[in-house]
Amino acid sequence: MNILVTGGTGYIGSHTCVALLEAGYNIIVADNLCNSRVEAIDKIQQITNEDVTFYQIDVIEEKSVETLFSKHKLDGVIHFAGLKAVGESVKIPISYYYNNIVSTMVLAKACQKFGVKRFVFSSSATVYGDNTVPFVETMDLLPTTNPYGETKAMSEKILTDIAKANPEFSVALLRYFNPVGAHANGLIGEAPNGIPNNLMPYVTQVAKGKLDKLRVFGNDYPTTDGTGVRDYIHVLDLAEGHVAALDNLKEGAHIYNLGTGKGTSVLELVKAFEDANGIEVPYEIVDRRPGDVASCYADVSKAKKEFGWTAKRDIIAMCRDAWRFEKNLKSY
Ligand code: NAD
Ligand code: WQD
Repeated sequence: MNILVTGGTGYIGSHTCVALLEAGYNIIVADNLCNSRVEAIDKIQQITNEDVTFYQIDVIEEKSVETLFSKHKLDGVIHFAGLKAVGESVKIPISYYYNNIVSTMVLAKACQKFGVKRFVFSSSATVYGDNTVPFVETMDLLPTTNPYGETKAMSEKILTDIAKANPEFSVALLRYFNPVGAHANGLIGEAPNGIPNNLMPYVTQVAKGKLDKLRVFGNDYPTTDGTGVRDYIHVLDLAEGHVAALDNLKEGAHIYNLGTGKGTSVLELVKAFEDANGIEVPYEIVDRRPGDVASCYADVSKAKKEFGWTAKRDIIAMCRDAWRFEKNLKSY
């Protein structure tokens, strides 16, 4: 089967390319490299010993997308391409709405035109807003605090309406929780530009000495130790979740949480990182970060029941693999 992977040189996309190739899928990657590097293609090929076809295109451009669809007989699309920095989305909302929503529409339209019936979309747990944990797929969505989150909720709605009107169109809307870690060989991983916004890359950069200490955003939340609780999921488990979703697609649009179902606080993650790697991570407690929720973790029973998929790697493996990648980063 030929699968188009948009955003396939990015963090989650590159790991999913590896998982797809290992599962026997043939892949075509489309990425404009606005937040990734073309070297990821070499690394994917190196890890899997398989060939990857790459197009440096912008998937909001209908003409480029249609040219690609006309060159390959595609069986499905996994749409990762998108802008994802929550804070930036508040500053430049038009870029986020335009990129993330137009890309979804252009790709869905090309699927209709070229008879491609399988579509997997990267959504986010952020669409649950401040619901009560654990988050279940049947919950009503609450407003998110930023344009990024709204682009995910709107893309889900657009794809759901398209699937309603075209019953043969099968869509999986995958709500990721907090992906962390890297491939165990340290060749691919998360390499954010500038100072990281997310916890794990911040911690790895403190461990490396690039940043002096972690700032823990608040210790007065109603959680076990007062710090924010999240459902961290190893990126390889997430990648395998995409293969499971693709293998089990059914007609209509269906939502699935991809998480572990376990909550870990900021201080628990710091401790796990120190235990896994034998490196101290200095930190200080500072004010809460605006827009953060206290707790966010998944009910994971639906993906288990329908895909037979569960996350296998624990928080120690996530910390170990994240650190291995950070150490190797200069060669990336
Ligand atoms: P990433 O930035 O590493 O990867 C996204 C890729 O898309 C990049 O390679 C970028 O160059 C590409 N891209 C962006 N706009 C494009 C366009 N118009 N045309 C072609 N390529 C384009 O991000 P990631 O962490 O791998 O995230 C992948 C997807 O998963 C995104 O849609 C993101 O919103 C979603 N997601 C990520 C997280 C997370 O914490 N990382 C959580 C939930 C959902
Ligand atoms: C995790 C915890 C912070 C940094 C974001 C997006 C979400 C999704 C995943 C895309 C929180 C705390 C963090 C730091 C800290 N992305 N923290 N010091 O906010 O759960 O989710 O990434 O879809 O949409 O919002 O992840 O890693 O930023 O934070 O104390 O320097 O770590 O307060 O409790 P978050 P995160």
